[in-house]
Amino acid sequence: MKNKPLRVTDLAREFLRPIINRGDRVVDATAGTGQDTLFLCQCVGETGRVFAFDIQMAALQQTRDILKKNGCDDQVTLIHQSHELMVTTLKAAAVGEQTVKAIMFNLGYLPNGDQTITTQVESTLAALQGALSLLTSGGRMTLCLYPGHPEGMLESQAVIRWCETLEAPFAAHHFHTLNRESPPTLIIIQRTR
Ligand SMILES: C[S@@+](CC[C@H](N)C(=O)[O-])C[C@H]1O[C@@H](n2cnc3c(N)ncnc32)[C@H](O)[C@@H]1O
Repeated sequence: MKNKPLRVTDLAREFLRPIINRGDRVVDATAGTGQDTLFLCQCVGETGRVFAFDIQMAALQQTRDILKKNGCDDQVTLIHQSHELMVTTLKAAAVGEQTVKAIMFNLGYLPNGDQTITTQVESTLAALQGALSLLTSGGRMTLCLYPGHPEGMLESQAVIRWCETLEAPFAAHHFHTLNRESPPTLIIIQRTR
């Protein structure tokens, strides 16, 4: 793996791993194939809780399968809903504002799935705004963006513009490969206090 180009999905995990503790509450805003949900489960351990959203049953089924296979399905609440509804849904599950340590957004479409079902600018921005209110002091949010397809390009531009307007206590950082055309990019948002 060491001679392969760095992947934004791997980098996102590396930025979250050091700040997530056992027992933390965390969110996967786009469950997809379940890889990030599984990673989050492994970080929070048996005493923690992962809330994973996806609008596609096919994605939640894949996520359930991978969690079962790894013996951590008890730690996860799978939510068949748009991440736009994250704040109200988590409130109903007694998860209040500023109590979530990490939130992962891996935008775009389900790998090997229907490419017409993809995250959309308006709902993504609404979800990001809500997600900010959930992050605890020292918490981090990762956004993997894919400008290589038309909807992804619009979404990436809108998300970057939105990040540029964030004020303290949030700090937004942007990572991308310089010598590729429309490479996937990673944004990390920290809540610094
Ligand atoms: C790139 S995939 C996520 C990959 C996943 N994190 C993984 O580890 O495999 C994007 C996912 O976002 C989901 N999605 C699209 N719009 C959504 C929305 N409004 N709310 C929640 N999930 C959404 C898609 O169904 C798709 O499964």
